Amino acid sequence: MLMQNLNGKNVLLGVCGSIAAYKSAELIRLLQEQGARVRVVMTASAQEFITPLTLQTLSKHPVRTDLMDPVAEATMGHIELARWADLVLVAPATQEFMAKLVHGRAADLLSAICSVADVPMMLAPAMNHSMWMNAATQENRQQLIKRGIYFVGPDVGEQACGEHGPGRLVDLESLVAAAAKLYENDLLAGISVIVSAGPTREAIDPVRYLSNRSSGKMAYAIAEAAQEAGAKVTLVSGPVALPTPSKVERIDVISAEQMLGAITSLLAQSDIFVSAAAVADYRPVKFVNQKIKKDKRTQSLELERTPDILKTVREQSEDLFIVGFAAETENLEIYAKQKLASKGMNMIAANLVGEQQGFEQDDNALELFWPKNKDQDNMIIQHKSLEMRPKPKLARQLIAFIAERYYAKTTS
Ligand code: C5P
Repeated sequence: MLMQNLNGKNVLLGVCGSIAAYKSAELIRLLQEQGARVRVVMTASAQEFITPLTLQTLSKHPVRTDLMDPVAEATMGHIELARWADLVLVAPATQEFMAKLVHGRAADLLSAICSVADVPMMLAPAMNHSMWMNAATQENRQQLIKRGIYFVGPDVGEQACGEHGPGRLVDLESLVAAAAKLYENDLLAGISVIVSAGPTREAIDPVRYLSNRSSGKMAYAIAEAAQEAGAKVTLVSGPVALPTPSKVERIDVISAEQMLGAITSLLAQSDIFVSAAAVADYRPVKFVNQKIKKDKRTQSLELERTPDILKTVREQSEDLFIVGFAAETENLEIYAKQKLASKGMNMIAANLVGEQQGFEQDDNALELFWPKNKDQDNMIIQHKSLEMRPKPKLARQLIAFIAERYYAKTTS
């Protein structure tokens, strides 16, 4: 039984021209069973062994075969496809493809994508054993490993040509397990992390509430990335329409008050708190028990501040490593720095929100700020930008950075 850590990952499957290309059909199925979304790129020679229609039917997306395809480039261009991917998996990878990759060729679609993808790349070679043992192929393999490209296989055994030796495509279960393993790390092994997520709802009457546009996508991606980094993760979530990431415990709450209660009950056994929820700042002073009638021409609502969760948490726990968020429509840096100091955070992740950015979007960019010293009045602030990218990728970068700062603080 394989683990589910390809859940929600975008896998770009490159298929090259080897007889093992027929196994790509089954490979798509296995990747999907692990929760991955798969899109396929085939080289010209791969199409001699298996049809694009077969792989299109299984992947449920058009298979890309041509770099100069005006229709396909108008929908999801090759650069976009490379950016979409969390993993580029080339299986089977041929001798020719490895040679092209070594030289940074970009004349065909798959090579062009590989030349721009800044995500893990894994090759599962399949070829005749003499081709595999060929000195150039072995040198190419070494070069590619040096560049950080992962290899899995080939296996030794009976080959399609009737000969025996190393060159068989590795068995598919092992291939999928190796791909899944890439997303496991031990950056936060043994650490307990609370992630708050989504909006809160502040009830006005039994059918109405105040809330905001937070979708919870960034927070859920952070919870998943922390879990992949080995942390024990509890997600304290406002109302969102998202599935719970695997191996993450989820506590559902509605209001800011409930969110505060859930989080404070976890503090004693927690090390890091990532406050990514868009907590409502105000709530109605009075909850009206029956539905308010529309019998007045104007209506006013008296509001009061909700509890400040971050501040309260900091008061209760001096040692907790707190990462706050700041969603702003302007003056991002100024507001972020003010919040960092006033709420006693260890780090703040600030992002601009508007029509095209932040809330409800699949991509995001973050500006991270953290204090270099403890002097509240003379705080020296450090800064790092995490570029615009899909929220799951951004979340993995954020978690890696949080781990770095957490250990820098706990060991200083
Ligand atoms: O001041 P602002 O609400 O923009 O600060 C945002 C940060 O504070 C977020 O990390 C958010 O989760 C947290 N917050 C909170 N309690 C509130 C409001 C915001 O913890 N009542």
